[in-house]
Amino acid sequence: MSFVIKSTAERAEAWSALFAADLPDQTVEIWPDIADPSAVEFLAAWVPPPDLAKTFPNLKVLFSVGAGVDQLDLSAVPDHVQVVRMIEPGLTDGMVDYVRFAVLAIHRGMLRYVAQQREQVWKAHSYRPAADLTVGIMGLGQLGLPVIEAVRALGYRCQGWARSRRDIEGVRTFAGQQDLDAFLEGTDILVCLLPLTAETTRLLARPLFSRLPRGAALIHCGRGKQLVMDDLMDALDDGTLGAAIVDVTDPEPLPTGHPLWSSPDVLITPHTASITQADTGGRSIVENLKRYRRGEALEGLVNRTAGY
Ligand code: NDP
Ligand code: OXD
Repeated sequence: MSFVIKSTAERAEAWSALFAADLPDQTVEIWPDIADPSAVEFLAAWVPPPDLAKTFPNLKVLFSVGAGVDQLDLSAVPDHVQVVRMIEPGLTDGMVDYVRFAVLAIHRGMLRYVAQQREQVWKAHSYRPAADLTVGIMGLGQLGLPVIEAVRALGYRCQGWARSRRDIEGVRTFAGQQDLDAFLEGTDILVCLLPLTAETTRLLARPLFSRLPRGAALIHCGRGKQLVMDDLMDALDDGTLGAAIVDVTDPEPLPTGHPLWSSPDVLITPHTASITQADTGGRSIVENLKRYRRGEALEGLVNRTAGY
């Protein structure tokens, strides 16, 4: 029975080596070199091949090589196939670093200083102490929780919003649509770490921005379809928002000539806030396969009804 890796050459090489060292009895094949498709039980992919059910009729587990699963067409994955998303320390650490950097950059006006530097302007701006600012994290999951811990350690107040109620010591938490306004009212820097679902699509739009304190900032690391980019531009133009750091857009890449590229209040990164690492990501998959063999629940099992 075979485990197929459909990913970058770097991951394929590292993961094959990890399997060889840790689960030497496991046959591993690198897409598209598959000897017998009917023998494939496990697939690790960002996007699976088309016609998954026909291509691999005996598939048991589909591992997403990323934390998100919105790139998968779950309706094309037979019900009995377990879908698992990536949980691995390298991906978490990458996101923690990115959000730490983004919060500090916004707080200390770095976007403005980059613009000033282009104009050779030497002008200092005042700033509030970190303890006077509240960072609001949307999404309190594998990434949101460590991000909160790291941002609090920098001295900022933090609050969090999720679908269900979460208790986090020292952090004010909010749950569901009924708490959203209260969460937004107290948030100076909003960080989106939500999965893309029907409920989160186009959530970051004018009505939401207008609930934030005037001049608040957005750090968007979720998915592009969660953000209405025209509303973001308008909110930056009229001062509703003061700055934005945007890692994900719709479409990706952001088209040449899009006004977001040239906004002095925006820093854009190309969907690189965090990336599944070859070594730690591979270890996470191998450990999950061991769990599967022991008949245990898989880490990162996707709730297909909730969509994440
Ligand atoms: P998790 O599934 O661990 O956490 C998701 C969190 O979002 C949970 O707290 C969940 O609430 C909350 N949530 C989901 N739907 C809603 C909703 N409708 N309203 C309020 N809260 C909601 O995911 P991860 O932390 O591992 O990853 C989050 C996302 O980050 C990924 O899906 C992906 O989109 C993005 N990502 C982006 C990367 C980048 O480089 N830009 C890299 C990696 C991930 P509850 O706790 O109640 O379930
Ligand atoms: C992910 C991503 O979901 O890289 O892992 O966006």
